[in-house]
Amino acid sequence: MLSLYSLLALATVVVGTAPPLQNSTGYWYEHINHNGISPTLPNGQNWTVFRNVKDYGAKGDGSTDDTTAIQRAISMGDGTRTRDAGGFGSTTQPAVVYFPAGTYLVKSTIQSAIGTVIMGDPTNLPTIKASPDFAGTYILIGRDQHLSGLIGFFHGVKNLVLDSTSVPATRTIALLEWSVSQQNLLSNVVFKMPIGAVRHTGVATQGMNSALIINDLQFNGGGVGVQLASTQYHLKSLHFKDTEIGIRFVNNLQATAQGLTFDGCSVGIDASGSKMLSVIDTTATNTSVVVSAAATTGSLVLENVIVDDSVSATIQTNTTIALTGSVLPNTAWIRGNIYHANSTSPHSSPSGSLIPVSRPTALVNSTTYFYHTLPPPTYATTPLSSVMNVKSVPGYPVAGDGVQDDTASLQAIILNSAATATAAGATNTDTLLYFPHGIYLLSDTLHIPPGTRLIGEAWTQLSAKGAKFADADQPRPLIRVGREGDVGVVHMSDFVLTVAEVSPGAVLMEVNMAGAEGPGDVGFWNVHFRVGGAEGSSVRANMGCGRPEKCLAARLSLHLREGSGSYWENVWGWTADHELDGDSSGGGGAEVYPGVAGGFLVEAKNGTWMLGMGAEHNVLYQVNINKAENVFIGLQQGESAYWQGKGNTMLAPAPWTESLLASDPDFAWCGENDAECRMGLYQRISHSKNVNVYSGGFWNFVAGPNRAMCTEECQNNAALFDSNEKMYVYGFSTINNRNLILEKRSDGNVTAVATAADNAGTALDGFRTASIAAYFRQNE
Ligand SMILES: *[C@@H]1O[C@H](CO)[C@@H](O)[C@H](O)[C@H]1NC(C)=O
Ligand SMILES: *[C@@H]1O[C@H](CO)[C@@H](O)[C@H](O)[C@H]1NC(C)=O
Ligand SMILES: *[C@@H]1O[C@H](CO)[C@@H](O)[C@H](O)[C@H]1NC(C)=O
Ligand SMILES: *[C@@H]1O[C@H](CO)[C@@H](O)[C@H](O)[C@H]1NC(C)=O
Ligand SMILES: *[C@@H]1O[C@H](CO)[C@@H](O)[C@H](O)[C@H]1NC(C)=O
Ligand SMILES: *[C@@H]1O[C@H](CO)[C@@H](O)[C@H](O)[C@H]1NC(C)=O
Ligand SMILES: *[C@@H]1O[C@H](CO)[C@@H](O)[C@H](O)[C@H]1NC(C)=O
Ligand SMILES: *[C@@H]1O[C@H](CO)[C@@H](O)[C@H](O)[C@H]1NC(C)=O
Repeated sequence: MLSLYSLLALATVVVGTAPPLQNSTGYWYEHINHNGISPTLPNGQNWTVFRNVKDYGAKGDGSTDDTTAIQRAISMGDGTRTRDAGGFGSTTQPAVVYFPAGTYLVKSTIQSAIGTVIMGDPTNLPTIKASPDFAGTYILIGRDQHLSGLIGFFHGVKNLVLDSTSVPATRTIALLEWSVSQQNLLSNVVFKMPIGAVRHTGVATQGMNSALIINDLQFNGGGVGVQLASTQYHLKSLHFKDTEIGIRFVNNLQATAQGLTFDGCSVGIDASGSKMLSVIDTTATNTSVVVSAAATTGSLVLENVIVDDSVSATIQTNTTIALTGSVLPNTAWIRGNIYHANSTSPHSSPSGSLIPVSRPTALVNSTTYFYHTLPPPTYATTPLSSVMNVKSVPGYPVAGDGVQDDTASLQAIILNSAATATAAGATNTDTLLYFPHGIYLLSDTLHIPPGTRLIGEAWTQLSAKGAKFADADQPRPLIRVGREGDVGVVHMSDFVLTVAEVSPGAVLMEVNMAGAEGPGDVGFWNVHFRVGGAEGSSVRANMGCGRPEKCLAARLSLHLREGSGSYWENVWGWTADHELDGDSSGGGGAEVYPGVAGGFLVEAKNGTWMLGMGAEHNVLYQVNINKAENVFIGLQQGESAYWQGKGNTMLAPAPWTESLLASDPDFAWCGENDAECRMGLYQRISHSKNVNVYSGGFWNFVAGPNRAMCTEECQNNAALFDSNEKMYVYGFSTINNRNLILEKRSDGNVTAVATAADNAGTALDGFRTASIAAYFRQNE
């Protein structure tokens, strides 16, 4: 055990002094020693993670053409090959392409690559500015050119200004191409476009993607702020000023728009291509129409939408004004089918109406009644002297190389950092622990006490390995955040938690503590869970994971325990269905079959906020809200384990039958041999109260041992609701599921409440869609 004094001494040793850089604002990340690696590439010890564009020749002076220099920084590979040729793998080529303050003129498109975070100095946002003679349709293509949007994971863009104000309004241009799926990051970006330039688009997407969230963005001018084609999206804290149309849904099944502001827009949201949309906690000023929707299709929910007198229509359906004025707290305007507890027939509201509703007071601001939200921390004001690189602490060797066991050193560094914070009398510690990119192998639980802030780099991996995680009957956390009764601050950003080998006892994270001051004290941003399918893990198809019962790869991704309260934003729990690395494109693709029991287990009572959340391919459930209270879910995306379904003989709860927990569903409502019933639930909400959910997108594309493509219903049940009090579930959408919601009655009878047949949507790409606007269980 280190003494407090030795830690204080070491804190001053490791940080060093900042190298003198031009235009430096002193942002710690620009100056800290960067010793991240790519552990699994040949010569990966020499892989360059941090790339300051100025080191590659960019000037940032507003007049030099920096296109080539920026592209060089992105594309640099291992000295033999460049990344733009493809083939490096999806998880093995981490890069942070960093822009110091300045204006970077570009004359043609910048092309990103998988594994890349394009990032500026948050203390003085750098601008990437298109020249007047810019050639190309996009300023920045934020995704890899070799991979389709549906497998477009691991890209980031943050702390930047993208600027098309010098490009003539007559030119068609989009500032960012962002056709991506889960585990991507787009936040703290300003999109500057000429006012009235209807051909300029801020964020453009194409095809069909499976994205989770974009958040904390500012749009000025232009024709369309965000143009969306995806299965689902959470749009959080987007601000539009003088943009013709803020958001346009070209084709989208399920979305939540939360915390938006529209000022000086013609139309806030063009929802004509949206099947189900919840708009909450949104303000419109000097804007003609807040939501424009198709006349008859598409379910719609508005809750807490505040408009000023200039707004002529809060909702316009084609040419008809459907609603004027604000939708005040404790009411929702709902169009679509609404189900109430104990009833199998919906109240249908085809042209929309205002309905009394409520929110759990523990989750909202008591003045505005808006849900609490927070921007992702940038630690812009944290001095370099307060940041500790965990790979540079003398006496505590940490390798992050996927080989060495880093448990003991990391635990000592973390405990002593928290002790320093506590000694300084602070609950909100100033110390920030920086984990350069790598794979940090952990052979036992890493305890994170109150007073700890951790930040990774292009998804730093924390990976379970060893006997401690091997017992299916002894679930053990890999990361334990606080102990029962603890109160204080823990922050984590930019990590992925994973397993290095089959680990039937591994619970990747357990949270026990709550905040003292408010929501976000215990906060997780861009922290994800991944089981298998990647380099650095033996949970691979060719290493014994070709059958789920032979590959109980982990117990659970995340467990939020009873006394905990936490804020989650941008979180994907993915049990691998395919390989991410390998093959000629580098995108992998081979099938893999881990059998992981569950995704997210929420038993927390002290306030849980989950924004932009997805959980996929687990055996028993994707999300299980059990005996919980005060839970907000902005958006949940889910997909089944693809091997479950017709023809499969490993029927849930198998292969976990012998190791079920009290919180696990038992599938007693299914026939013994009913393979289309004995499939993981996307969402189970049981014995809980004060649960408000705004979007659920639950998709089944392929099913059964041969992974046959579903062209009709392939799964019986999407969700099970059992003995809850006070809950509001809005926007529940499915693909290829027969029953949207099962209700378990007090006599034990399990009844299908909302069926796909009663709520059929239009077919999408040959799949059968269904959607309801709301399900309520009120405590009348
Ligand atoms: C940044 O450095 C350039 C020279 O490299 C200089 O011309 C410019 O004025 C500097 N900008 C700031 C904001 O200091
Ligand atoms: C890294 O590069 C140095 C010199 O540039 C070389 O000596 C060393 O062998 C390289 N290490 C690996 C693992 O390739
Ligand atoms: C309203 O927005 C329009 C369009 O952007 C702008 O021209 C006008 O000045 C704004 N009016 C006010 C009162 O802000
Ligand atoms: C909306 O109105 C336009 C005419 O203004 C008409 O062409 C279109 O078919 C209508 N769409 C719907 C969905 O009713
Ligand atoms: C609640 O909202 C008000 C008005 O926007 C704001 O001033 C206040 O800081 C918020 N309170 C909390 C706890 O976020
Ligand atoms: C959690 O909620 C309970 C019940 O409201 C309360 O007694 C307790 O103090 C809360 N704990 C924390 C850490 O906020
Ligand atoms: C639904 O049924 C339960 C008994 O199963 C009853 O306690 C509850 O009051 C009913 N709720 C409504 C809204 O009818
Ligand atoms: C369960 O409830 C449904 C609908 O209320 C009813 O049709 C069915 O007969 C009940 N089943 C049993 C076993 O009680």
